[in-house]
Amino acid sequence: MKYTFPSILAFICMLSFFSCNEDVPNPALDLGKTIIIPQPLKVESTGSSFQINSGTTVQNLNNIKAVDGFVAQLKKTSGFNLESTKTSNENTISFSLDEASEMGAEGYTLDITDTQINLSAKTEHGIFNGIQTLRQLLPTEFEGEKPENINWYVPSGKISDKPEYAYRGSMLDVARHFFEVKDVKRVIDLIAQYKINTLHLHLTDDQGWRIEIKSWPNLTTHGGSTQVGGEAGGFYTQEQYKDIVAYAATKFITIVPEVDMPGHTNAALASYPELNCDGKATKLYTGTEVGFSTFCTSKEVVYKFIDDVIREISEMTPGPYFHLGGDESHVTEMKDYIPFIERTSAIVNKYGKQVMGWDEIAHAKLPANSTVHYWNKAENAKMGVEQNAKVLISPATKAYLDMQYDSTTRIGLHWAAYVEVDSAYMWEPSELVEGITKENILGVESPLWSETVVNMDDIEYLVFPRLIAHSEIGWTPSKFRNWENFKVRLGKHKDRLEIQNVDYYPSKLVPWAPLTKVEVDNP
Ligand code: ACM
Repeated sequence: MKYTFPSILAFICMLSFFSCNEDVPNPALDLGKTIIIPQPLKVESTGSSFQINSGTTVQNLNNIKAVDGFVAQLKKTSGFNLESTKTSNENTISFSLDEASEMGAEGYTLDITDTQINLSAKTEHGIFNGIQTLRQLLPTEFEGEKPENINWYVPSGKISDKPEYAYRGSMLDVARHFFEVKDVKRVIDLIAQYKINTLHLHLTDDQGWRIEIKSWPNLTTHGGSTQVGGEAGGFYTQEQYKDIVAYAATKFITIVPEVDMPGHTNAALASYPELNCDGKATKLYTGTEVGFSTFCTSKEVVYKFIDDVIREISEMTPGPYFHLGGDESHVTEMKDYIPFIERTSAIVNKYGKQVMGWDEIAHAKLPANSTVHYWNKAENAKMGVEQNAKVLISPATKAYLDMQYDSTTRIGLHWAAYVEVDSAYMWEPSELVEGITKENILGVESPLWSETVVNMDDIEYLVFPRLIAHSEIGWTPSKFRNWENFKVRLGKHKDRLEIQNVDYYPSKLVPWAPLTKVEVDNP
C-alpha cells in the first residue's frame, strides 16, 4: 500500500473521535474506467465514490444467502464489523429483490452514490451476478484471506446489466483424467466470478467411468479404476456428486451430467460383458484414441442398463439437461446409431430431463426441447435447427480450452487449431453458421478435455484467461465487445488472478499490468 493522501487521512480519522466522512470528500473515481469482465450492458459514471468503513451497515431484508458470503468475505478482508440494519442510512450497502426489475432472470441494477450502494434484482441469481460485479469494483484485496488496512473505495454511478445468452457454460472432462471433488469446487469458484452459470461434467468415456451407479457397481469399481497414462483413476460416489451439485447451486451454477454413448464407452464395455455384441468384456483402455468403442445397440440389456444409469443420475440432478454424448461413434453404423439416439432420448425425457448431445445427434429425430451441442459440423447444427432444437455453441476452433495457445504450450492438443487469447475472444456465436441466429442459440460453452490435463495447475493454465474471454462472448452483446478494449481490462485482472493463486497463461498479447493503488485511490 502506498501512503497516498486519502490513506493518511483515513489513519488520522482512525485515531480521532470524529467521523471524517463529512469532512473528507471521497475521491473522484470513474466507474466507466473500471475493469469489469464481462462488460456490463450499461455503465453510467457519476465521478465520485462510496467508502466502506467501520460504520458501514448492510441491509439484506430478503435474507439473500449470496449476500452473507459476500459480507463475510468483506468483513474478513476489511476488518470492519459491517453490522446489519433494517433501515438504510447514509452509509449502507443494501441488497434487495425487486419483482418489477426489468433486467430479467439474471440481471441486476447496481446504484452507487457517495453515501449508499444499492444492488437490486428480480432474483437471487441476479443479486449473485451483481455481487460478482461489485467484487471487481472493490480493491483486489477483497479476494485475499486477511484484513488489509487500505481505503475501501467503490466508484460511484449506475450499472444496469443482464446477459445476452441464458446458458454460459464450461465443461470439465473428468473421464480422461479424474479430478477430485475439491478440484471441481475450485473450478466452480473460479468460473462463477465471471458469471458462468453451467458446468457440464463429462463423466464417462473410454478411459473411465466416474459416477457411482448403484445398480451397476462394476462401472466404477472396475471401469473407474484407471485413467489416461495408466495411473489409478477414481470416481464420485453418489454422495460426492450430490455435494458437487449442491455446492454449484450456491454459486448459481447448474450441473449438466454427460454419459457419452453409444461410442466413447469402453470403460462400461470393460465392466459388463453383456453390453458387447460378442458378450466379452473389453480391456480397460488408457490411451487417447477415439472412435473405437460402441454399445451393442441391438441388445435389450443395453437399454435396461441405460435406463438405470439415466434414472439414477437424473434423480440426483436438479438441472433440466441430461447430455447423452453421441459424438464420434465411428464404429456404430448409422442405421444403428439413429434408433439408438431416438430410444435413449425417450429415456432421458421419461426421467424428466431435456436431451442435450454433441452435434452428431441431429441425424436422429429429436424430441421437443432438445439441444444440439455444436462442436464440429455446421451441417449437423443446422439439421438440429431444422427440427427446432436449440444449439449450444462450442466450436472446437474457438471454444475448446484444451487447444494449445501456440506450438510451445506445454500441454494441450492442436487438432482443431492453436487458440491464442485474441482468437478465443474475437468471434460471435450468431455469426458462426449461416442460418443459425441468436434465437436458435441456447448459449456458449467452453469445454476442457483432459487427455493432457493432469492436475489443477494444468486446468487453470488452459482455462485462464480464455474462459474469461468466452464469458464476455456469452454475456455481452457483440456491439459492446472489442478486443483492444477487452485486452486492457483483462490485463488488469492480473492481480485478481494472482491473489486467487490462479496459474493462468500470461499471453504476450495481453498488457498484463497490476492495478496500482494510485489508480484505485486517485485516478
Ligand atoms: C468431441 O470433441 N468429441 C465432442
